[in-house]
Amino acid sequence: MPPKSHLRKDRINIGKKVRAHRNRTITLSRAETKLYSKEIIQISKPASVNTLENKIVNQDTFETLTFLPDNFVDLLILDPPYNLTKTFNSNTFKKRSISQYAEWLENLLDKLLPTLKSTASVYVCSEWYSSTAVHLVLDKLLNVRNRITWEREKGRGAKRNFKNASEDIWFATVSEDYVFNVENVKLKRRVLAPYTYTNGEPKDWLNTSGGQFRLTHPSNLWNDITVPFWSMSENTDHPTQKPEKLLAKLILASTNENDFVFDPFMGVGSSLVAAKKLKRKYLGLEIETEYCLLAAKRLHLAEFDMTIQGYHKGVFWERNTLKAQKQKATTTPIDSVKQSKKHTCIRT
Ligand SMILES: C[S@@+](CC[C@H](N)C(=O)[O-])C[C@H]1O[C@@H](n2cnc3c(N)ncnc32)[C@H](O)[C@@H]1O
Repeated sequence: MPPKSHLRKDRINIGKKVRAHRNRTITLSRAETKLYSKEIIQISKPASVNTLENKIVNQDTFETLTFLPDNFVDLLILDPPYNLTKTFNSNTFKKRSISQYAEWLENLLDKLLPTLKSTASVYVCSEWYSSTAVHLVLDKLLNVRNRITWEREKGRGAKRNFKNASEDIWFATVSEDYVFNVENVKLKRRVLAPYTYTNGEPKDWLNTSGGQFRLTHPSNLWNDITVPFWSMSENTDHPTQKPEKLLAKLILASTNENDFVFDPFMGVGSSLVAAKKLKRKYLGLEIETEYCLLAAKRLHLAEFDMTIQGYHKGVFWERNTLKAQKQKATTTPIDSVKQSKKHTCIRT
């Protein structure tokens, strides 16, 4: 059973904040703090891959990297402090010039590169202002494959500027030999032009009682993912928590089952939780103990609930399709049957 404080009644009024009745934000009771403290580790000498598998390391990433083995990572997810002045619990990252941020990132990546396998993929998250720095640094050290723009919707309106409602995720690989499972990250979208054959059968889409949908190729513009908010069961008080759905896309695209996912700035462990739910190995580093404890609790809760919001029955769905996700297909799309046999793509 999940720990008691995950049940709604127990969670209300836990911690300093008073929460709304339907608020599902994950918090820690004193008993849980004690319990999950046993799950997090520190390392002070070179560690083997086995001792690091599926672990949370609570210490400064820069101090930890020298103790990590070489060549063990299949997927590096780098969601570092953005180039903004931001406080994470007790630590504050200070905004610096673009060139200083580039220097900071290059120094970090230099230390991370030895951990990567020759077939590894790397994703680096960034806000718009320093995205150019990320591009240049990655281009110097790796093979840049793409820039994903995530339209995360939420953002503060500005009086003398456009609202910032997006983030970039740069995709790079160590070599030309890398995993990319395009079939696993297709997006199920509502059909706007439902073309049919002369006999009335749908061409390349599915007719369901919840609507007409088509599986489309994933593009580098992601507008199907919201930031976690208080009514979602994955939500915590971390100020920049990434959604599990977003991490699931990176993991499914760029790894196979049992591959090793490494997140050196794991926050509350969203990438670790997605990795666990998708049967990948993982390692996360984080300087703030409270975030490590929340990550440990989320990993524990994942044992009872392996679902990822927005990813249902092996398919990513566009926003606001919860009802349709539960409907059964009423007509088989002739094209998709033909095309899946030939392993060619269906319309994007
Ligand atoms: C952008 S957040 C990552 C959020 C994460 N992706 C999630 O979904 O929870 C960056 C994290 O890096 C942590 N951090 C900052 N500097 C660090 C350092 N030197 N070593 C380890 N962690 C650090 C911060 O505490 C923060 O939680």
